[in-house]
Amino acid sequence: MSVRFGKPHVHHQQTDSTNERARELALEGAEAGTVVTASLQTAGRGRGGRRWSAPEDAALLYSAILRPLDLRHLLLPLAVPVAVCEACESLADVECRIKWPNDIWLDERKLGGVLIEARPPDWAVIGVGVNLLIDEDEFPEDLRWPAVSLGHDVGPNQMRKALDKQLGRWVEAKPEKVLDAFRARDALSGRPIAWSGGSAELDRKGVADGIDERGNLIVRGDDGESAALGSGEVHLRLL
Ligand code: BTN
Repeated sequence: MSVRFGKPHVHHQQTDSTNERARELALEGAEAGTVVTASLQTAGRGRGGRRWSAPEDAALLYSAILRPLDLRHLLLPLAVPVAVCEACESLADVECRIKWPNDIWLDERKLGGVLIEARPPDWAVIGVGVNLLIDEDEFPEDLRWPAVSLGHDVGPNQMRKALDKQLGRWVEAKPEKVLDAFRARDALSGRPIAWSGGSAELDRKGVADGIDERGNLIVRGDDGESAALGSGEVHLRLL
């Protein structure tokens, strides 16, 4: 049976990080599908140890518990951004894309992000932040990539319900289906990039060439050699 997200749902007016609250609940044995949201986070976490901040009630700040983890969840890092895109598109007339591994893009700007924190095989906390009603001048100035809001008057509560539904459809979807959906939204494909980390000690340059069946990014280096990059290992820059 597929996981039903949002039952139960715990909302905090203010908390440090919904991922932290969900992690505590997971450690206490909270059931699969438990969702934690907040109006405001004081120490929201982003990927790579970065901060994630948003004005009160202007973004979806969402963390869901998935448990236990097994072979059906190997492509979870790809399935979640697909679910976020579909949730956004169900509420607003937009077309979202995904910058590997899991940034949500709208018109080449960052609409949202995903931070999955897991203790396999016990549980994963699926953290999702989506900019909804943040004005241009409210975004921090030091962002690594320009940000954008979904707009269309979509509020956090509406977005939460849409995401509950789409996560239920995608977290245990068949691998071929997840890969097809991700590839159809792959914003990097064919673009020049530079990367470091993994087996590449120094900055290497090449072109993004899609994803393999495990969700690694395929890159064709300027030297003609192809490599598969894992999301945990590399630092990536668009050129
Ligand atoms: C990224 O760096 O793009 C990922 C950002 C994920 C932010 C969300 S907001 C809700 C949840 N709680 C957190 O502390 N982080 C995630």
